[in-house]
Amino acid sequence: MTSKSKKDELQAPDRRNFLTVGVAGGAALAASAVAGRAADGEPAITEIQDWNRYTGDGVDATPYGSPVEFENHVIRRDVPWLTADPVSSVNFTPLHELDGVITPNGLCFERHHAGTAIIDPAEHRLMINGLVDQELVFTMEDLKRFPRENHAYFLECAANSGMEWRGAQLNGCQFTHGMIHNVMYTGVTLRHLLEEAGVKPEGQWLLAEGADASAMTRSIPMEKALDDCLVAFKMNGEALRAEQGYPVRLVVPGWEGNMWVKWLRRLEVGDMPWAQREETSKYTDLLPDGKARMHTWVMDVKSVITNPSPQAPLTHGKGPTVLTGVAWSGRGKIQKVDVSLDGGRNWQEARISGPSMSKSMHRFYFDFDWDGSELLIQSRAMDEEGYVQPTKDALRAERGENSIYHNNGIQTWHIKSDGTAENVEVS
Ligand code: MTE
Ligand code: CO
Repeated sequence: MTSKSKKDELQAPDRRNFLTVGVAGGAALAASAVAGRAADGEPAITEIQDWNRYTGDGVDATPYGSPVEFENHVIRRDVPWLTADPVSSVNFTPLHELDGVITPNGLCFERHHAGTAIIDPAEHRLMINGLVDQELVFTMEDLKRFPRENHAYFLECAANSGMEWRGAQLNGCQFTHGMIHNVMYTGVTLRHLLEEAGVKPEGQWLLAEGADASAMTRSIPMEKALDDCLVAFKMNGEALRAEQGYPVRLVVPGWEGNMWVKWLRRLEVGDMPWAQREETSKYTDLLPDGKARMHTWVMDVKSVITNPSPQAPLTHGKGPTVLTGVAWSGRGKIQKVDVSLDGGRNWQEARISGPSMSKSMHRFYFDFDWDGSELLIQSRAMDEEGYVQPTKDALRAERGENSIYHNNGIQTWHIKSDGTAENVEVS
């Protein structure tokens, strides 16, 4: 998947062992520190600026708005050497530029096996066939006549942080953790559609098929299909983006991204998983003894500090500092997030702010006074089922280093005294 020489293009981080680095905790609060400054010497506020003087564009200038030009750097990015061809590839959500819990539509990472399908919704059909009382075909208009629901869920690719199994690799949370997005979906429950067709008692599995050139198929156990899956046509209030499966995609809350079939065209009910061949060769976690973990569908509890991080250094220097990040679990809500400034020796509870919804991203903050000393910052999330995010060493002890998928280990950023940050590991 990677080549070492090309890896250097992304500034392969320094992989010294930081066990020996002495780190003074940076949390001591200097009572006098404030984040404001004196008014003199600030012409930006004391003098009239152009935008105060001249009128701006009218309401007819941008019928569909885009971000202001000063935010042009806030974009999805890919790592060209990661895959052979951009058509079967991935780009990454710029987590270090975002706040709150919702990912804007234009910044949701994309993962597709055969490029983005462009489908005229008037021509699109969704079929339910197989072990049902009545095979049915729905137009988009038909789908919109079923009762609708709204839910925010994270979608994480099983390969998110996959590169990091072999040690600190990529310098930025966009690349280490950016195969995730968190969106408010509007759609109809899969249960409603299946009930309309009438699932026969022996119908225990569902094959979901995409209409793109990869004709991506995934098998989903009927229990999950009837539990909380959605057939969604809106994200964050507007139509799905083409990249996210317009006009309709499957939403499989808390489960790995590859099951969330985009451009959904067919649901076939069967009595066993179709893709057994596929599932034993792909989407499994290879263990040291050569055996593979299968059916590891749930995305376990995970978190990452998004700021500061390698792409978002602490440029402001000492004093009041907002450390922030995101946490999520495929098993429900996040109960708490702890933060360490010294590589996991001492932990303090972070503050969660914003909605706490099941199988949705949570936002945490840790406000502290940085004394300018080096830090090894980490976050560790715990979900409502009591699962605690493991260290990478603990994960490797259990699963070895042959895996690509399901790396939910604790991430460390080394903050240097000049505020720059680097991807490292502590052991
Ligand atoms: N569905 C189809 N039809 N084709 C695909 O290539 N990729 C899967 C899944 N659904 C894929 C698909 C994978 S591996 C992931 S991680 C998610 O879609 C990514 O969803 P996104 O592009 O909205 O981020
Ligand atoms: Co994926």
